Amino acid sequence: MSRPRVLVTGGAGFIGSFTAERFEREGWEVRILDDLSSGDRRNCAEGWELRVADIGDRGAVADAVSDCETVVHLAAFTSVPESLERHEECYRINVGGTFQVLEACASAGTRRLVFASSSAVYAELPDAPKRETDCPEPISPYAVSKLEGEHLCAAFREARGLSSVALRFFNVFGPRQPADSDYAAAVPIFAERGLRGERLTVYGDGKQTRDFVYAEDVAEAIFSAAVSDAEGTLNVGTGRPIDVLALADSIVQLTGGVAQHRFEPPRPGDVRSSTADVAQIAEVLGWKARTSLEAGLSPTLAWWRERLATTKR
Ligand SMILES: NC(=O)c1ccc[n+]([C@@H]2O[C@H](COP(=O)([O-])OP(=O)(O)OC[C@H]3O[C@@H](n4cnc5c(N)ncnc54)[C@H](O)[C@@H]3O)[C@@H](O)[C@H]2O)c1
Repeated sequence: MSRPRVLVTGGAGFIGSFTAERFEREGWEVRILDDLSSGDRRNCAEGWELRVADIGDRGAVADAVSDCETVVHLAAFTSVPESLERHEECYRINVGGTFQVLEACASAGTRRLVFASSSAVYAELPDAPKRETDCPEPISPYAVSKLEGEHLCAAFREARGLSSVALRFFNVFGPRQPADSDYAAAVPIFAERGLRGERLTVYGDGKQTRDFVYAEDVAEAIFSAAVSDAEGTLNVGTGRPIDVLALADSIVQLTGGVAQHRFEPPRPGDVRSSTADVAQIAEVLGWKARTSLEAGLSPTLAWWRERLATTKR
């Protein structure tokens, strides 16, 4: 019997490579579509088929989707602060690109689509955990584009019968997460700087909270969602808030205690508090984050040590 095939858009990236590994472990054939703008071909294992193309390339997307049972759509313009400066490019990739993927899936009769949305769609409210039923209030072009992606999924479900689920990832961290721009996420920047003994920059007072969820747990959520028939949107987080200053302190300690931090003004578009309510995903998929921040930081820092050692050589 032939093996089912999954297309992972953005599969040469951070979450995408963990996702592809998760499907491969279950015996799936893996195809990646990625333009390698932030992804890296070294993240792709030998047996995966890598197609280098832009998500806006209608022909390449249709061809890549055509014989895949399931599509996990992760390719995106991923930075909140950068989206304020380059909003047209953000909408082109995140709205236009998502439309191309949905259109291709609907035309090809793809069984199932999992869409990567984001906790950024939630309103800036007091410290209450964010629920899927809360009224979204996106405050950055990135967040607007992700919410639009969710709406497109719903529209294709209604109009074309395409089965899909949107997962709102909170702050994902782990090995292979890029730190090579000012817009990168806190964990990889802190990990790299901490290991180099450099100062960690904390924006605002550092008391803003985030829900840090480990990449392997996220890949598990994506796989569970793909093989389920859940519809709508689901949060993917731990339900445990950690403030950015506490994260910086943990990384300083784990990297030998040399680095210090300095404060900079808050960045536009950054939300104050962000924690997932995870009741819905537990009920619908039986999924729950298993890895604590400390347990996930250990392989993350090991990966950074190795990477810094090889780039020095
Ligand atoms: N990392 C997080 O904390 C987080 C949180 C919420 C949502 N997300 C979403 O999860 C998904 C994966 O993010 P990630 O953290 O792995 O980022 P990443 O940058 O590692 O992965 C994105 C991948 O998409 C590819 N890509 C970008 N633009 C493309 C284009 N025009 N055409 C084809 N490929 C393109 C990149 O080369 C990269 O491999 C994204 O949709 C992101 O918005 C991530």
